[in-house]
Amino acid sequence: MVGDSELSRIGISLPENLLNKFDSIIDKRGYSSRSEGIRDAIRSYITYYEWMNDVEGERQGVITMVYDHDQRGLMEAVTEVQHANIDIIQSSIHSHLTHERCMEVIMVKGDGQKLRSLTESLMALKGVESVKLTTIKIS
Ligand code: NI
Repeated sequence: MVGDSELSRIGISLPENLLNKFDSIIDKRGYSSRSEGIRDAIRSYITYYEWMNDVEGERQGVITMVYDHDQRGLMEAVTEVQHANIDIIQSSIHSHLTHERCMEVIMVKGDGQKLRSLTESLMALKGVESVKLTTIKIS
């Protein structure tokens, strides 16, 4: 392990279903403890965030998001964020995964910084399960 120094202890509150899913993943992956799994998850989060910060210049890409259909006001908020970004959104596809979950694939094109900020706005909405931005550099 590189870059880890002294350990700090933190207490976090999580919804039970989230914790159950997490536990089943760390169990499958053979982590020796929950703490180890959480450290790894935080490292991945940081890596992803840093990778997002490298997205710059003219880009073409897709945002894939999964969210809770039953979360009050969320569908409207997702639509609103997209309407506020029509300059970089080419089109989107909505797919109903189950009765409660929706998947939305948004095709984007434009300045990397704008694509990132759109992705972050979607991530910040309550009831969003996951948001992933994938891009390639144009020209
Ligand atoms: Ni749906």
